[in-house]
Formats: sequence, structure tokens, C-alpha cells
Amino acid sequence: MADELKRTFVFAEDGVDPNIIPKKTLNNGEEMPAVGIGTFGSDRFSNVEIANAVVGAAEYGQRAIDCASVYGNEKEIGQAFKIILEGGVPREELFVTSKVWNDAHARVIESCKQSLADLQLDYIDLFLVHWPFPNFHAKGVAVDSRDPNAKPYIHEDFMKTWAQMEELVDMGLVKSIGTSNMTKPKMELLLRDCKIKPAVTEMELHPHFQQQELFDYYVNEGIQPIGFCPIGSPTRPDRDKTETDTVDIEDPVVKKIAERLGVHPAVVCIKWAVQRGQIPIPFSVYEAEYQSNLRCALPDYMRITDEEMSELATIDKKCRLIKGQVFLWEGTAGWEDLWDEDGTITK
Ligand SMILES: NC(=O)c1ccc[n+]([C@@H]2O[C@H](COP(=O)([O-])OP(=O)(O)OC[C@H]3O[C@@H](n4cnc5c(N)ncnc54)[C@H](OP(=O)(O)O)[C@@H]3O)[C@@H](O)[C@H]2O)c1
Repeated sequence: MADELKRTFVFAEDGVDPNIIPKKTLNNGEEMPAVGIGTFGSDRFSNVEIANAVVGAAEYGQRAIDCASVYGNEKEIGQAFKIILEGGVPREELFVTSKVWNDAHARVIESCKQSLADLQLDYIDLFLVHWPFPNFHAKGVAVDSRDPNAKPYIHEDFMKTWAQMEELVDMGLVKSIGTSNMTKPKMELLLRDCKIKPAVTEMELHPHFQQQELFDYYVNEGIQPIGFCPIGSPTRPDRDKTETDTVDIEDPVVKKIAERLGVHPAVVCIKWAVQRGQIPIPFSVYEAEYQSNLRCALPDYMRITDEEMSELATIDKKCRLIKGQVFLWEGTAGWEDLWDEDGTITK
């Protein structure tokens, strides 16, 4: 049973005209706005608080919303979309992303139909395979817990999942399909065997985790990177934090640029993402935050200089925050195995 979102939609007088927000043209001709808003509340906010932020951000001009069935709030966000659409935003202006969770790789179409029903939409703009593994873990489990049925990446199985993604496009239920948490060797196999190429890939990207080589590979293949945890997810759950994790918004270079521009270091992370070319999807339920995050899409809303961009390129700490430990299978050495760091798929 969903909680009820009670509010109206009023276009913000000082908002950003969605028509002037730059768009990225995807490899299938669809267009995605240059900055989106995330909807994973890291256990800190209620579903209604997050849905309320989606309406507030849309009032201000935000049109790209990153959802996922596993976030457990698509019913409330569906109420937000109803309010936004009834408030006068044309459906074709919205760019809605959702994702099939790991426990539904064998029933992608059913999962997509559930998301459509929950989101109260008749098509989804972008549908992603959330992780390339069918490995499931219960909500909130300890990071060292292991699913006894967890398996390594099996390409034949992934292609069966991808074929269902392609079918969704043929059925007209989704406009674009993509991947998330992929690696280069896995993507090479997918590109070899797919009928419909992924239009985007969602990956962790922030100044302390730039993944330059992988980023360049995707761009060269015509696959648009979407950057999650663009601020370095400072408020992620404690279970997702380790002692060696670094903090982007405390980096001296990020802070120095923030000081010059008179903004929060988080805003520098978003502007860096836009200028570098990925589409960041920062999360926030606070008006001032999601408004300044959206403004970063505008070319004339502050500018990080070329020298500063070069300096930011040097602060990469290769610090992966979303390590995915809970998806490991028996016999693996550690979370690094999920990421094929030696260039081959870990068996
Ligand atoms: N595909 C995947 O596997 C995957 C994985 C992780 C995340 N995601 C997606 O990516 C989205 C974003 O990731 P995330 O939420 O982990 O991390 P994030 O966007 O890097 O960080 C979010 C936090 O940054 C702070 N913040 C946001 N805007 C700010 C601003 N303008 N000024 C100051 N602080 C600001 C907020 O903290 P306060 O609340 O304290 O202000 C907020 O909770 C998620 O919501 C989800 O949609 C996808």
C-alpha cells in the first residue's frame, strides 16, 4: 500500500525553462536532459518525502528522474508523475528512467509492466538492467552476507535478459534501453551479441572516482554515460562506507573551486560532471539543493575553467563507493571480482 502524496503542482516563477536545458542525443535519436534527479533515499527519507521532491524539482524545471523498482518508492513517485502531468507538464517533456532488479532477470517484461503500473505511465523513456548479475540480497542485509544462490556473470543468461529488454522496445513499452554497473569485457560481449545496442550506461562517477578509461570506451562506442553518486554519495548508509573511502566534497581542489564560485562543493561536482560529458543524477529532497543541481546544466550558470578541469582530473582517488559486496558468489576473493579489474570476466 502506497502512502499518499498530497500536494498540487505550480510552475515555479523563478524556475528553469526545460526547453533551454541542454540535452544529450542518444545513439537511437532520443534526447536526455543533461542533469537528472536521483530517487534512492539511502534509508533516510520516506517515499512520500522523495516523491514530494520529485514534484518540487519538476516545478522548478527538472524533467529527468532516475527511478528503480528496488528503491521501493515507485508507487509514490507514480503519484508525483500524476500530479506533474495533471499540472500541465507534457508527457513528452519528462524523461523517466527505471530499472529491472536482480531478482527479475528472467521476467523483465513483467517487472517493466509493474514499474509502468506503479509509475502510472504508459511508457518508460529509459529502462536499465540494474546489475549484470541475477544475484539477490534482502533489503538492508549486512555487507558481508552472501546469497548462497549467487552466481558469477554468465553471458548466455545475460543475453536472455537483454533479449527481453529488446522486446520491451519492440512492444513500445520503453523508448531506450541500457545497462548499469557494467565492465568493459562484459560490454564487449553485449555489443557483439545484441540486436539493440545500449543507449546509455549508468556508472559510478564523481571526482574521486572518474573511471576515465571506461568512460572514454563508452563514449567512443556511442554509449552515453550517466553518473550515479555524482557528489560521492556523502549520505549513503553506513553499511556502504569503508574506512578507506575518501570524501569528494572535502577535497581541497573541489573546495577551492567552490569558494571561487561561491557555491557548495557538491555543486562543483555536478558542474564538473556536466562539463566532462556524463549526465549526473544527484539526489536531494531539499529545494535549494535540487535547484542549484539543475542549474548546473545551463552553460551560462557558472563555469569551471579549463585549468580547473585539468586540476580536477588529477584528484581521482580511484575510490569506488558502491562496491557491490552483497552480490558476490561463494569462492570469490573480494568485491574487486565484480569489476573485472584485470580486463577479464571473473569466473
Ligand atoms: N545504478 C545504480 O546502481 C545506482 C547506484 C547508486 C545510486 N544510483 C542513483 O544515483 C542517485 C544519486 O546517488 P546518491 O544519492 O547515492 O549520491 P549523490 O547524489 O552523490 O549524493 C546525494 C547527497 O548529496 C547531498 N547533496 C545533493 N545536492 C547537494 C547540493 N546542491 N549541495 C549540498 N549537498 C547536496 C545530499 O545530502 P543532504 O541530504 O545531507 O543534503 C544528498 O543526500 C541515486 O539517488 C540513484 O537514483 C544508482
